[in-house]
This record gives sequence, C-alpha cells and structure tokens, in this order.
Amino acid sequence: MLDKINQLVEEIKGLAAQSAEEAEQLRIKYLSKKGLVSQLFDEFKTIPNEQKREVGKVLNVLKTQALDKINELKDGFAASANSEVGTDLTLPGTSSELGSRHPLSIVKNEIVEIFARLGFNVAEGPEIEDDYHVFTALNFPPEHPARDMQDTFFIATNPDVLLRTHTSSVQVRVMEKTQPPIRAIFPGRVFRNEAISARAHCIFHQVEGLYIDENVSFADLKQTLLYFAKEMFGPETKIRLRPSYFPFTEPSAEMDISCSLCGGKGCNVCKYTGWVEILGCGMVDPEVLKASNIDSEKYTGFAFGMGIERITMLKYQIKDIRLFFENDKRFLDQFKSAQI
Ligand code: DAH
Repeated sequence: MLDKINQLVEEIKGLAAQSAEEAEQLRIKYLSKKGLVSQLFDEFKTIPNEQKREVGKVLNVLKTQALDKINELKDGFAASANSEVGTDLTLPGTSSELGSRHPLSIVKNEIVEIFARLGFNVAEGPEIEDDYHVFTALNFPPEHPARDMQDTFFIATNPDVLLRTHTSSVQVRVMEKTQPPIRAIFPGRVFRNEAISARAHCIFHQVEGLYIDENVSFADLKQTLLYFAKEMFGPETKIRLRPSYFPFTEPSAEMDISCSLCGGKGCNVCKYTGWVEILGCGMVDPEVLKASNIDSEKYTGFAFGMGIERITMLKYQIKDIRLFFENDKRFLDQFKSAQI
C-alpha cells in the first residue's frame, strides 16, 4: 500500500491543467468520493492494525498535497479570468436587473408627498394596540359592533391586546403627546377579521389624516380633499361628499371622486354611477378632543381615512386586492416605470 501511495504522490506533483474545467476533472479523479485518494482511504481500513500508524501518516500527507495542488491549479484559472489581459473591453456589459417598488409603497409615497405640500407631517403608531386607542378614546360605545370578535383580531385571550382595525388609533397617540396645531398623516397596516376575496383582505393599509387648530372648518376639509383628489387622480377630478356616520367625527362624510376610468360617464368600475367612494372624513368630535386633553372650546379639527389598496386599485385599474400580497413578479414588474 505504501508503494501505491508514493506513486500517487509523485503523480500529483506533476499534475497540470489547461483550463478550469480540466482542473475540476482532476479534482474529481483524485478527491471526489470515488476518487483515487478516497479509494486508498477505503483500503486503509483493511490493513493490519500495526501498520495503520505509519501508513495513516503518509496517506494524510498525500491528501493534503492533492488538495493543495488542485486548489493551486484552480486558483490560477480564477486569477486569469479576473485579470484584464485577454478581456474584450468593447463587449457590452451584463446589466443587472433593477427591482421595482411595490405598488402600495408607490401610492403611499405619493399620498405622503401630496399632503407634505400642504404642510402635513408623517407619524406612525403601533400595529399591536389596546382597546383604548383603537375604540374607547375614539368615542366608540362599549357595544359597538366594530369591537366584535368578528371584526377584530385579539392577541391571545386578552381582550385588551388587539391588532388595530384602523389607523385612526394614531390620531389618539399623537393628540396625547402634542398640543395643537397638529397637521399630520399616519400611514400604516391595519387588520380585520374578514374573509379574503377579490375586494377584501384581512391585512391592508390605510392613511389617516388629522388637522387641529383654531378655526378649522368643514370648508378647510373640503378644499384639502379636493386638492388631494386632483393631485392623485388628475386635474379634471371632481369630488362629492355624502353624509355618513363615524363615532369619532361629527358631522361625518364619505367622499366620492368622479370615476377616473370613464370620466363620470358610467362604467363597470363605478357601477354606472360615475362616482367611486375613496375615503371617510369629518370634523373631529369634541368628545375625541376631550379624551386626549385638547381644549374642545378653543380648537376644532378635521380627520379623514382612506385605504391605500383602494386608491391603488383605482389608479392602476387593478381588479383583485389579493394581487398585492402574492408577490408575483409578473405583477410587480409592471410598476418599474412608476417609481416614487
Ligand atoms: N377609520 C375609518 C375606517 O377605518 C376611516 C375614517 C373615517 C377615518 C372617517 C377618519 C374619519 O379619520 O374621519 O373605515
């Protein structure tokens, strides 16, 4: 066996390769599981115990030599591949593919930018909330259906730890910490225990807006939202406010925009009405100001809340909300030119 080993040692010393592939072939020949060196290791198991010490030593030296030699050959080719000698510098380069921003991020950034032009700051709040900030401080009566197990995800069995069902909770967090004037928007993720369909999801995104100061009126709300609608959906866009109800605003309204697809003539997106609803809004209820220690005699304010998925679906004519969460590259690639 010693002879065989010595013969291989000599053989390996003289190895040469013309290319990286040849070097790899040599590695396979000598060092792979069934290679010549490995075969010797198998044979080693069968020799008498008293020879093992001596033969083992030489065998290990052989293995290290083989490894070093083959690595040396391989490194030589790697180095010459990297060097510029022999490289055709006029060849076109391989361009690396750029990723794209997620459509929801694009639209969120656009909303933030539009309101920034009107002096709105951005603030964020926690996704895991308590009952007080999501409901109680926003004037939800104790038996309000939105608090129901059917709508709200509770964490474990504690009814006071829950996933926020709307970003209105951030209003409360900001009002607790800041005295007016407050002019801010709060983008974020919200959670509702809803069956998933083309139009609804249990996780989605909202942007909440809040403006509190002396003498803030409903006219200010309307002008702000009209500006937003025109910036987001184009200068021809009209708005319409319909009376509605939310526990935290009085009066409350829902805002429709003229259908950006058919320009108000009627199509299947606006269900042939010419209008599509995009947000809820209203004047902050004095009870909500009081709950956060803001003087409701001195200050008034407005608030609004919109779903980012809904705005994105209207803007880009996306028919199924589930597409936002599937990470299908064919869908995401379509937003490459819309970076903001
Ligand atoms: N929080 C409401 C929702 O989740 C949206 C909303 C409506 C927010 C009216 C407001 C508002 O600030 O004034 O549907």
